[in-house]
Amino acid sequence: MWNQRYAGDEFVYGTEPNSFLVEHAGRLTGPVLSLAEGEGRNAVYLASLGLDVLGVDSSDVGLAKAQALADSRGVTIRTEVADLETFEPAENAYGAVVSIWAHLPSRIRSRLYPLLERSLKPGGIILLEAYTVDQLARETGGPKDADMLLTRSKIEREFPNLETVLLREIDREVQEGSYHAGLSSVVQFIGRKV
Ligand SMILES: C[S@@+](CC[C@H](N)C(=O)[O-])C[C@H]1O[C@@H](n2cnc3c(N)ncnc32)[C@H](O)[C@@H]1O
Repeated sequence: MWNQRYAGDEFVYGTEPNSFLVEHAGRLTGPVLSLAEGEGRNAVYLASLGLDVLGVDSSDVGLAKAQALADSRGVTIRTEVADLETFEPAENAYGAVVSIWAHLPSRIRSRLYPLLERSLKPGGIILLEAYTVDQLARETGGPKDADMLLTRSKIEREFPNLETVLLREIDREVQEGSYHAGLSSVVQFIGRKV
């Protein structure tokens, strides 16, 4: 499904980075693990700040476009085609984990999220933005599956070992390509490994 969505020449979510990521990029140190990286807009942005970034996604088509975008911007990113259902992030390895619109079923999150906590170096942070269940009532983006949508309480429960730096549910205007367009209900999270 994702390879089909990425098959055209256009960048489905645009080539500009996610605005929540831009707002807080100054908090990130490398190496950065960027989950569900897609066509590379966020990894390329972070690389342009001088950060070492590994973008992981199950779509080889998306990651090929990510590498092409990096080339066109004159930056280097690392990419890995992998299914997050089985992906094993290195332990104690990352200054930051970035998860932008990485909507996963709870059965995948329950295995992956503890591994993400473990993959952070002390002081490292997770930066996450996702649609909430309130987004089900909107037609402005995100999966139509409550299990894949996040909330403050799911995040508190699923990242029990991180210190919360920021955690909020807000409605905000999202303009990130044709699939993410309009007023949206999102949850934003920054958690630090102490
Ligand atoms: C909505 S897109 C977001 C892409 C990117 N984060 C962005 O903001 O531009 C969701 C991405 O999740 C990836 N994805 C979905 N399920 C996945 C899985 N189980 N393993 C790895 N990637 C997955 C898809 O291939 C797709 O690129």
